[in-house]
Formats: sequence, C-alpha cells, structure tokens
Amino acid sequence: MTDFIDFELKEIISNDRLHQVTEIKQIVTDKTKVNSNELREIDREYLSWGDTVHYQKRPIIVNGCQGGLIFDDEGHSYIDTGMWHSSCNFGYRNPEIETAVVKQMGILPQANGDFLHQEKLLIAKEVVNAIYERTGVKGRVSFNVGGALVVEDALKIVRKNTGKNKVAVMMGAYHGRSLGTLNLSSSHRYREYYNEFPEKSIMFPFANCQQCFYEKERESCDLYCAKMIRKAFSNEYYGIASVNSSEVGAVVIEPCQGRGYTIPPKDFYRNFVEDLKQRNILVIDDEIQVGMYRTGKLFAFEHFGFVPDIITLSKSFTNGLSPVSLVWAREDLVHPEKFTPGHAHSNFANHPLGTASALASWRYMLAQNYETSIPQKSQYFLEQLQTLQARYPFVYSVDGLGLLLNMVFADEKGQPYNNSANLAAAIAQDNDFIWDNQTWRMILQTGGYNLNVIKLAPHLDITYEEIDRMIGVLNQVLQKLGKELR
Ligand SMILES: Cc1ncc(COP(=O)(O)O)c(C=O)c1O
Repeated sequence: MTDFIDFELKEIISNDRLHQVTEIKQIVTDKTKVNSNELREIDREYLSWGDTVHYQKRPIIVNGCQGGLIFDDEGHSYIDTGMWHSSCNFGYRNPEIETAVVKQMGILPQANGDFLHQEKLLIAKEVVNAIYERTGVKGRVSFNVGGALVVEDALKIVRKNTGKNKVAVMMGAYHGRSLGTLNLSSSHRYREYYNEFPEKSIMFPFANCQQCFYEKERESCDLYCAKMIRKAFSNEYYGIASVNSSEVGAVVIEPCQGRGYTIPPKDFYRNFVEDLKQRNILVIDDEIQVGMYRTGKLFAFEHFGFVPDIITLSKSFTNGLSPVSLVWAREDLVHPEKFTPGHAHSNFANHPLGTASALASWRYMLAQNYETSIPQKSQYFLEQLQTLQARYPFVYSVDGLGLLLNMVFADEKGQPYNNSANLAAAIAQDNDFIWDNQTWRMILQTGGYNLNVIKLAPHLDITYEEIDRMIGVLNQVLQKLGKELR
C-alpha cells in the first residue's frame, strides 16, 4: 500500500506536501507493530459488539487485500468467496479505481456538499443514461451514505408521490438496519429489542424454491407464491386494497435475495409487478447487492422482465472504497419542482473521494466484457459446484445467476441442516488447506433461513484458475464439514 501511495502521490502532489505522505507511512508502520493478541484485547474491552464481526468466535485481523485475496496479521492468506457481500465486485485494490481515488486525493480530497463537482455530475449523467438505454425511462439521481440511507430516500420518494407510508416486501429480504429500513428487512431478530415498528411493511413469501413457504414443489406449483401476492390485492376483505385503491405505496424488490443468494424463477415478478403498477403502486428495486454486473447484467432486474420506478445502488458502486450510494427515480417522481432542495441530505453524501471512486468503478465496469464473460464463468463455476453436489449427500442443491451462486445444505427431503453454513465458514476460516503446493484459508459467506446456505460471490474478474482453486479448497472444507454433520 505504502509503495503504491508513494508512487502515485509523488506524481501528483507538490513537494511541499510530501512530508504528509511520510507521516501517513509512519502511521501505517506503527499500526502494524501492534500484535494481534493486543488488538483482540482492545476489541474485547473497548468495542460494543452490535456489528456482525462477532458472529465469528475468533475474528481475523486483516492487514492487506489484493484481487480476490485477503491477508491477516498472522501470515494467513484467505481466498475471499464473497468480496465483502459484493462490495468489491471489481477486486480489492483494483489499480484503475484506486489510482482515480489517489489522484482525487491530490486534487479535490474534500468538498462541501453544498457545491457541485465534476465527478458527481459525470457519474450522475452516466448512470441516468445507462438506465435509459436499458429501460427507455428517463430519471434523475441523488446520493447518500451507505445502503440503508438510499433505501430510506426511496421510501421518502414514495411518500412524497403517493402519500402512503406502507410498503410491501418479500420475506427473507434485507434492505438495511437503520430504524427506517428495519420496517422492511425481514428478520424479526433485528427488531426484537426496539419496541414497535408502526410502519412495518407487509411481507409476502418469496419464491425461495429450495424452502417453499407454501411447501410446494417448483415443478407443479405454477408460481403459486406470485399468484398469492396478486390475489392479496384483489378483494377488499383481504385488508390492503379494493378495486380502485390500495394502502400500499410501493413494493420493494431485491431481485435475487442476499439472504441466501436465492434466485427466483425468471417469470416470478412478471406475475404480479404489472398488476401492482396498474394500481399506481411504485416498484423500488434494491440493487445494492446484486447490481453492478453481479448477476451478469448491469442490473439484476434485467433478467426478470420488469421495469422499476426507483433503483438503489451502493456497495460496488464505489467498489467498496467509499460509502457513497445512489438512488435513481423516474423523472416525474423526483423532478426538482416536486423533490425540492433539501429533501435528502447528508454531509458526506457526495464526498468527492466517493464520487471519484464511483465514476472510476462505473467506467471500469463498462469497459469489461462482463455481459459475455460472466455467463461463461458462471456456467463453469456452477458445473464445478454440481460436481461437489454429486460427491456430498448433504449438499441439497446448487444454483447460480452470473457470479451470484449458492450451495444449500439439507437432507434428501430438503430438511435444512441448521447452522451448517456457519460451521463450514468456521472450518474454512480457521484451517489450512493445500492447493497447488500453497497454503490457503477461505472466507465463506453464510445465509439461508436456517443458516444452511453458502453464498458465493467472487470478484468479477476471477480467472478459471482461481475458480479451480476456490472449488479445490471448498472441496476440502466440505470433506471436513461432512465429518461434523455425521
Ligand atoms: C440489498 C441490500 N439493501 C440494503 C443494504 C444496506 O446497506 P448498508 O449496510 O450499506 O446500510 C444491504 C446491505 O447488505 C443490502 O444487501
């Protein structure tokens, strides 16, 4: 890192600032001097544990990352199969994106959000045009900090335009953990300690065909879950709508769910979205985790034949280099006369280091051939996962759309092995595995309604050799897991 900073900054900043770089280097060097046991002691004594770090018995202390790898301060190299929940689709320390941020650091590292700056305007224009090309719908964007806040902005747009507070979501969905987005995210556990949520959304069963809420089989269900959503709006005595009216302002969709990287059937949304739109119910499409080519298309909704009214982006929007996030909405919903200045604001919403990383990530992404390369890699990856499925009886199913893939652990009747994914993740993280004469550890993301799903989201430039290595190490993890599940 320091070498890179040296090289780049020497190019772009004046000599009188070079002493600052030396100071930064000193801080980085000092930081790495503290040993991991001391650091863990600080964690035990000084940190509140409300975040997700402490899902792990022994959190790793990272001190480096590159491409699809993470390094810890005890000398272990980890193959990252999840890329920070798809926050770094274009690889850790992607040189093109990082260079843009380092350059911005030397030109405009700070800017009051009350002004405009070039990168903010250019990324806005490029996103709006890309959505127009794909949908024929002209919109506008605004920025905020992190995923939850742009989802909240989307809800504000709904309230402003429909006058309604209530929205519908899918069971299993995740839209954030701020007080506002907790009305949407499905897990009861997130709300458990925080009293009432009067605006909690209406939740419909999602097309999770590996674990169907209605206990139906995909081959014969005729998309019963989608029909039930439509039906819920069809009669006033079902409590949310009548022929001409509805209590719901919007339906919030996470096209493939982050909970288990669950991929619904291609015609799931088509079965009810149009019907809802005709009732003037807006469609919010949360692409925070599955957008930015994760599924092989720029936006996941493109696979499913519906056009959203509002779209949210975060995570890989800046390739994880900044929390700057974005909400796009149809022109008529956010025209400045309607959505007047000050409706959405946070001091750091369009931080120039964030807009620079967003613009560089966007341009990097569009310059790759992802629409072709990702489906090919996806097919290869899925075939390898199917080989593992054939080898291990506790692997109930595998699935994938682009480089969003899952592996479900259940018995032959589909009964989930509770917590098995957590067990697999601990095995992967805390043991050494040999591949190609080198020692590796592995980061596995866990999910599923019973913590029985491994979620795979490697970086989008993954090579076939890296896929083989990932599968080779995963195979060894599954061997160990099989012994524990017996
Ligand atoms: C689909 C989706 N929406 C919203 C969020 C919330 O984003 P953040 O954690 O940045 O608030 C997430 C985060 O994982 C997400 O996956």
